[in-house]
Amino acid sequence: MSVHGGIIAKAPRTTGHGTGANVPGFDDATGAGKMPDPEGTRTVSSAADTKDHLKDLALAMTTEAPLPAPEHIRIAIVGLGYVGLPLAAAFGKHFPTIGFDINAQRIDELRRHHDHTREVAEAELRDADLLELSCDPSALAGCNVFIVTVPTPIDEFKRPDLRPLESASRTVGAAIRRGGIAIYESTVYPGATEEVCVPIIESESGLCFNRDFYAGYSPERINPGDREHRLENILKLTSGSTPEAAEFVDRLYRKVVKAGTHRTSTIRVAEAAKVIENVQRDVNIALINELAMIFNRLQIDSEEVLEAAGTKWNFLPFRPGLVGGHCIGVDPYYLTHKAQQIGYHPEMILAGRRINDGMGSHVGRRVARLVSQRGMAVASPRVLVLGLSFKENCPDLRNTQVVDIIEELQAYNAAVDVHDPWVSAQEARETYGIDLLADPECGVYDAIVLAVAHREFAELGAERIRAFGKPGAVLFDVKRALPKDASDGQL
Ligand SMILES: NC(=O)c1ccc[n+]([C@@H]2O[C@H](COP(=O)([O-])OP(=O)(O)OC[C@H]3O[C@@H](n4cnc5c(N)ncnc54)[C@H](O)[C@@H]3O)[C@@H](O)[C@H]2O)c1
Repeated sequence: MSVHGGIIAKAPRTTGHGTGANVPGFDDATGAGKMPDPEGTRTVSSAADTKDHLKDLALAMTTEAPLPAPEHIRIAIVGLGYVGLPLAAAFGKHFPTIGFDINAQRIDELRRHHDHTREVAEAELRDADLLELSCDPSALAGCNVFIVTVPTPIDEFKRPDLRPLESASRTVGAAIRRGGIAIYESTVYPGATEEVCVPIIESESGLCFNRDFYAGYSPERINPGDREHRLENILKLTSGSTPEAAEFVDRLYRKVVKAGTHRTSTIRVAEAAKVIENVQRDVNIALINELAMIFNRLQIDSEEVLEAAGTKWNFLPFRPGLVGGHCIGVDPYYLTHKAQQIGYHPEMILAGRRINDGMGSHVGRRVARLVSQRGMAVASPRVLVLGLSFKENCPDLRNTQVVDIIEELQAYNAAVDVHDPWVSAQEARETYGIDLLADPECGVYDAIVLAVAHREFAELGAERIRAFGKPGAVLFDVKRALPKDASDGQL
């Protein structure tokens, strides 16, 4: 609590939940740069008033602290990855914003206006003139809106690993003051914000939830590598721990999200909505993957079947594919964990996960079979894998299923080379022990697997991709990036 020269006077009372009247308008945020006065206090100098004011202060401390007025908002973005950085760049145009990350290297590159994730351009970073960057938690002092965008991975037993979220909550708890709000964006299971994060903030700060500080949840929907669906033009879910907090969160995001917001009645609803967006995609892709495996055995082209079925108005246009990355292949385990905790054993969600987790090995087996059917069986066939990242036009290597293709091929004694112009060679080596090939040789491979449909590969075209192989080499097109007849196998 900050006191600026004198005795603290009465803090304005909140108007009670349900009115939203305690949330000032955001359109007139003119005081950018000023430090907040989270108590909404004024100073008094007359000693005669002291007793009354102390009484008022005691009363004020038992009522809800007002949320920051727009001109006093000072934002901290905790975690500057794929989600946090675009948010920091957007808010940094409107409010004083501290972008905080525990990774000093990340802060260094961002200070040089370079984003290795390629989500935020140099010009956008330069435009965010109210954005400061730091890896020092003491820089968060004075912030009153904390937006947490740290990873939510799973552990080796596929259980939620909440350690980054817990650690970020400790950081927030150490910096938050009365009237502050912590908004979580990381994908979690319903209940995690209020059951896991809020108690940590309470114990670190000594503040009381929904009286001294508030919480919000506004999940992120961006899609790495997608130039069309950006933070500004994706409708955003918002929620808060009180009606005033919900109103505050909603108005805050409306400053940067031009597509608007959808406010949910509770934080748990917003948490559940986010996680099922990815569960639904995962299960639908799993169904199509299963159908693709059946049709492959029946020697029917699955794409032709899906196109034909897609002529019905309510047939959903999913396609088979590898499900990797930090979201779709991970988030369902957050929901299944919570379901199991309350005694419900989810079947469909976990079946979907099993199918999708097996697709990399399935591709590897099919390529190995095609090589041997071609009579190209040599002691150790040479295979070139094009693409390692978990999706096209994106350098993200997290949980890439291409690694399963490679391991399956190696189990068939293949010598596998991997080329990916999008991926950091150092990260590939450190994460998977894979040494990327910068410049694949022509005419030497028994099989080529077009694993990721990066635009560079699509531009090369089938003929130049085939040129990497020996005459008659197998070309397998996982994502159907090439015309159907240009390859020897597809998912
Ligand atoms: N990547 C996506 O497309 C996407 C989309 C929607 C939602 N999400 C969700 O958003 C969250 C963040 O994902 P991401 O892809 O941005 O992760 P990321 O790994 O790209 O970035 C996370 C950043 O947080 C930092 N960090 C880790 N612990 C920290 C801590 N205690 N304090 C401060 N910084 C810390 C890391 O150094 C890293 O820079 C996850 O829950 C994810 O599921 C991601």
